[in-house]
Amino acid sequence: MPSPDIIVQTVATARRLGRAGAVAGVLLLSALVLKCGTPTGPPLPLPPLDPELVAEGREIFRFDTFGDETFWADTARLHEVITQAVSPELALQVGLKVDADALPQAVKDAILAGEVDLTSPATTVTLLKLNAVVGVMGTVETVEGRDTLVRVGITCALCHSTVDNSFTEGIGGRLDGWPNRDLNVGAIIALSPAITPAQKEVYNSWGPGMYDARFSIDGLNIPVVMPPALGLRGVSREIYTGDDTLSYWNAYVAVTQMHGRGRFVDPRLGISVVHSPDLVTSKLPALREYQHSLETPAADAGAVDEAASQRGRAVFNGVAQCATCHIPTESFTDVNRGVLHQPAAVGQDPAYAARSITKQYRTTPLRLVFRPPFTQGPYFHDGSAATLDAVVDHYVALLGLSLTAQQKTDLVEYLKTL
Ligand code: HEC
Ligand code: HEC
Repeated sequence: MPSPDIIVQTVATARRLGRAGAVAGVLLLSALVLKCGTPTGPPLPLPPLDPELVAEGREIFRFDTFGDETFWADTARLHEVITQAVSPELALQVGLKVDADALPQAVKDAILAGEVDLTSPATTVTLLKLNAVVGVMGTVETVEGRDTLVRVGITCALCHSTVDNSFTEGIGGRLDGWPNRDLNVGAIIALSPAITPAQKEVYNSWGPGMYDARFSIDGLNIPVVMPPALGLRGVSREIYTGDDTLSYWNAYVAVTQMHGRGRFVDPRLGISVVHSPDLVTSKLPALREYQHSLETPAADAGAVDEAASQRGRAVFNGVAQCATCHIPTESFTDVNRGVLHQPAAVGQDPAYAARSITKQYRTTPLRLVFRPPFTQGPYFHDGSAATLDAVVDHYVALLGLSLTAQQKTDLVEYLKTL
């Protein structure tokens, strides 16, 4: 049964939306009572996007540190580490990306001609001065005639953007909202001289594409797969555990993880961080508008077997029962109906959910499921399924499905289109 607070929320939403909303609310409630229900629910009403706000949000998403230099430079002293030891070669190795559009043609030509020293940290400082390192903002000043990195901060783009590799591997046009699954954030933080050996061990254990956004709060170590920050316009609750709205989570990360200056208070998690002046709250609407403008790009036409994926769609919607939770008309999730899932009911480890508000898992809205080399697994919150075949096997065992080998490969082919 849906929990009472979800019912209260649904009714409250219906009130706000007026009469049409009330009807939608009743429909929602009936869907809740039916649990997963049939795959024909009402999609969220989507107000039009405001182009000015979208443009403002894009700048924030890419370039705003919310003043987090007070942590990454003043406390963690990463600017010193970069100056001493981080060559472009090392930066690319730990998954940092370079925005080719920020490089002047002369620099591009010099890179192609092999005239740029990619083994020298000084080159990294030059890239930061050009504002070319995705998600990393450096303040470079001239000290005794030399470019000197005096501060460094991070932005949302660090984890939720990558580049299209159009110039060379790791250097290309920005792909905002795509998770950077090459990025080893843990290894980067572990470079800080200001952390303890015990913390260092945890950070170094995560590996590329993984991050634990709760470690700094509860000290546990259960990193999750970095999700896309796109395709969420019609999705009512965010993160793997469906804790709350997009802006709630943006504020959580900006203040408690990026260490931006702002206010994040949530008695449900026992968190109260007030770091003034607040450089976060006023930016949340624009930031949300930009994320909502980022739609899921289609898979390359040549990348999937069209006939097989058509058959796979029928398997997904039919015998494999996927569509009962991944509702195709509702961004492939059932969360808009107020539904979340007990870990055991979906065959997932309860440990990560136990750290959240809901203690449950949200049906992941399926997007960018397979876009090699950018996204190609692992799947589920903790990456417990390495491949799409493993995902299908997980559900065959969980739901006791009997699928032929052909149905399984067709289903995988369809998932690749999402
Ligand atoms: C250090 C890496 C990192 C940074 C920086 C970061 N995020 Fe995330 N983000 C994550 C991880 C990991 C999750 C998954 C957390 C979970 O589900 O428990 C996540 C989840 C999200 C989600 C939810 C996606 C979904 O499927 O519902 C959105 C949206 C998002 N982040 C946007 C942002 C924005 C906006 C910023 C900047 C304010 C930001 N993130 C900064 C790592 C990061
Ligand atoms: C009972 C509801 C339910 C059913 C049925 C269901 N799923 Fe899921 N699905 C979930 C939940 C909940 C998650 C999130 C689990 C997690 O992250 O640990 C999920 C996650 C996934 C993911 C991972 C997405 C990602 O980016 O990590 C894929 C892929 C997926 N499901 C595919 C399927 C397929 C294919 C089927 C049918 C064979 C199916 N699901 C049936 C609820 C369901």
